[in-house]
Amino acid sequence: METNKVYYELTASAFDWAIADGKIIKAWGFNHQLPGPVLRAKKGDRLVIKVKNELDEPTVIHWHGIRLPASMDGTGEVQKPIQPGETFEYRFVVPDAGTFWYHSHLNETVQMERGMYGALIVEEDTGLLTDADRVLMIDDMKLNRDNSFKRGNFISNWVERHDGRQGDTLLINGEENPVIDMHAGQTERWRFINSSSARYFKLNLDGKAFKMIGTDGGLLEQPLEVTQVLLTPGERVDILAGPFTEGENFALESLPYDRVTILKAKREPFAKVQVGPMKPSLALIPEVLRKIEPLAPVHAAATRKIRLSVDPSLKHIIDFQVNGGMHTMDKPVYVGDLQVWEIFNSSLMDHPFHLHGFFFQVLEENGKVPGYLAWKDTINLPPRSKAKIAWMPDNRPGMWMYHCHILEHHEAGMMANFEVTDPGKGEAFAGQDHHHCKG
Ligand code: C2O
Ligand code: CU
Repeated sequence: METNKVYYELTASAFDWAIADGKIIKAWGFNHQLPGPVLRAKKGDRLVIKVKNELDEPTVIHWHGIRLPASMDGTGEVQKPIQPGETFEYRFVVPDAGTFWYHSHLNETVQMERGMYGALIVEEDTGLLTDADRVLMIDDMKLNRDNSFKRGNFISNWVERHDGRQGDTLLINGEENPVIDMHAGQTERWRFINSSSARYFKLNLDGKAFKMIGTDGGLLEQPLEVTQVLLTPGERVDILAGPFTEGENFALESLPYDRVTILKAKREPFAKVQVGPMKPSLALIPEVLRKIEPLAPVHAAATRKIRLSVDPSLKHIIDFQVNGGMHTMDKPVYVGDLQVWEIFNSSLMDHPFHLHGFFFQVLEENGKVPGYLAWKDTINLPPRSKAKIAWMPDNRPGMWMYHCHILEHHEAGMMANFEVTDPGKGEAFAGQDHHHCKG
């Protein structure tokens, strides 16, 4: 069967963007929108995305969560940056349904802070039906009174290096304090994407219960009722919101989460939810959303250990490291060889660990088996904690990476490249002298 092709064009440029009435920022983004346009496709489609760079500096685009070929992953290791005035065409099949996103993967701490991100939604063909499907991209900005982006001084640079850049201009879909209008009696699907540099977003809907139905890598097996959920940078969660009753008005907010930063965690409102007149619901929520096969026995022995650390540094006060090095190279893995990685965060602050190009299952968090199966590409590691994850390198050889998704930590060195190699193809990696690269 012919694969269905879906075409998109994204032009990266600088433009004026109103985050509120009369509050105009100089954004960088795609197609003069912040966030960039929502790209939609069906599971199995081939996306053809032409990216034109009209910025004054090079960029490269990463498709966060998509299991694509290494050459399309949009990192400095696998492609040359797209220079100003140049175009690059990304082509890949989207093999999984879920809530994904795209973002700049070059000079990220500046380019993403200014808005270079958007959602990529891959629709599933299950029986799940909701009354509306919304994408909610979480971000924050650190602005001056004149709405220009704040530049650091010695102290604030140090805080930013430590905490990651977190601002108090709170945005959902590029808007400050938007109103989410919905009908009473209806059930909506809300896809949250945390596209901020460093913010930990702990979703709270006035204490009301909601159902979690999906994570980074698509649907859960069953809806899971919760009253809050933590979304760290890079992570996604799909929830069912409603049904509510007419006249209910409440804040969509983030509860304080202490990730051991210099800035103190606060409770912060991001949007208002307003429930209007009743409308009949067409929602259909199956009891079983899909089946997820466990990848490995929960107590499988680790095949690799990774250590994230923050160490004193003469040059930078603190260094952010993986396995004792900055911007490092990890050992290769072989296609078809089940990976069980034990990640240890030896530092005294949280780090969201992100693996490019592959989904993993969490086997243990600090020795505890999670209560449900899920596919993930980003997992938070609290201070001095361990997580054991399992993933399968399928046949997509090439250079991949993992890193902390707090952009300032990634930039400061908390990342590693590694090669996925096909043993059938000989010693592709042997003797190669890899340079350390920020990617
Ligand atoms: Cu969303 Cu390398 O990141
Ligand atoms: Cu980190």
